Amino acid sequence: MNVKNVLVCGAGMMGKNIALVCSSVRDCQIAIQDIRPVDVLADIRINCKELLEKGILSSDALEERLSRIHFVRDLDCDAAARADLVVECVFEDMELKRRTFAALESICRKDAIFCTNTSAMSPTEIGRDLRHRERFVGTHFWNPAHLIPLVEVVKTDAASDETVDVVMEFLRCAGKSPALCKKDVPGFIGNRMQHALWREAISLVEHGVADAETVDDAIKNSFGLRLPQLPPLMNADLGGIDLTWRIHTYLLKYLEDSHEPSPCLSKLYNEKKLGFKSGEGFYRWTPEEIKRTNEDLNSYLIRMIYGK
Ligand SMILES: NC(=O)c1ccc[n+]([C@@H]2O[C@H](COP(=O)([O-])OP(=O)(O)OC[C@H]3O[C@@H](n4cnc5c(N)ncnc54)[C@H](O)[C@@H]3O)[C@@H](O)[C@H]2O)c1
Repeated sequence: MNVKNVLVCGAGMMGKNIALVCSSVRDCQIAIQDIRPVDVLADIRINCKELLEKGILSSDALEERLSRIHFVRDLDCDAAARADLVVECVFEDMELKRRTFAALESICRKDAIFCTNTSAMSPTEIGRDLRHRERFVGTHFWNPAHLIPLVEVVKTDAASDETVDVVMEFLRCAGKSPALCKKDVPGFIGNRMQHALWREAISLVEHGVADAETVDDAIKNSFGLRLPQLPPLMNADLGGIDLTWRIHTYLLKYLEDSHEPSPCLSKLYNEKKLGFKSGEGFYRWTPEEIKRTNEDLNSYLIRMIYGK
């Protein structure tokens, strides 16, 4: 299938940037739907400010792409009936997502492909009640979706190989680096690894081995630096499988393996120390520091991805 018409459901933080990503496929028309009014084009222009300033995207190219993105309030619209592919980005709520897909199935073409951008829930469970489960996959974009190259394509228990191939190819055409997650496992690929690391980092703080800043700095100043060039499995080969085997034989039994959030994390949560949202988490944050940290992250990503 040649994807030429896309519907994005949910015009929040992820949906808007995903619409922008889809618009990089030539001639692709994108409808983005939300139950609340959203000035999608204005928000996308704000998100692209730095890309424009650094000459990575020209304003003509951006305006041409925006001319193919249309906001709609009502799901039952021509754009939905025309859609080759739908990406659902509504709130992370199982019942809401199931209701959305049930509605989509009654409006969309029988051969339309459905994708859910769920962060953590099982795409197989979300699509459980659909008639055409073979056309349903997870597409886990990472925030900010217009910058981060990875999209995990999660094969549901019933998804066909053809559906997976069409979605992977569409994402490649949109300039993304899709990764096929062949089984619908919690956390998919990226978040399983990310949270294994976070669990250990939190455990080190909790057990008084080092404070939060020291733990974060240890990563920033060591394997964090080389990770993009030397990811774990390549690193194991570089260091030697024999060395990795010996380290694991000795070390693994000492690593954190709790199946619950750590008491330290739960304490912060219960005290409503929620990080940026409340101004305190593992660190204290002023509004200026929060703004600067967000801006620095975007600039860093643009430097890493585009070299500018
Ligand atoms: N925020 C992240 O970092 C991130 C990363 C990857 C995946 N996700 C996932 O993407 C999805 C969206 O997350 P977000 O951060 O964009 O959330 P968000 O709260 O910014 O946006 C959700 C949007 O869905 C809309 N919505 C709610 N009910 C709707 C309905 N019935 N029909 C149409 N629109 C409806 C809301 O009005 C809102 O604009 C979630 O499933 C989330 O878990 C989020």
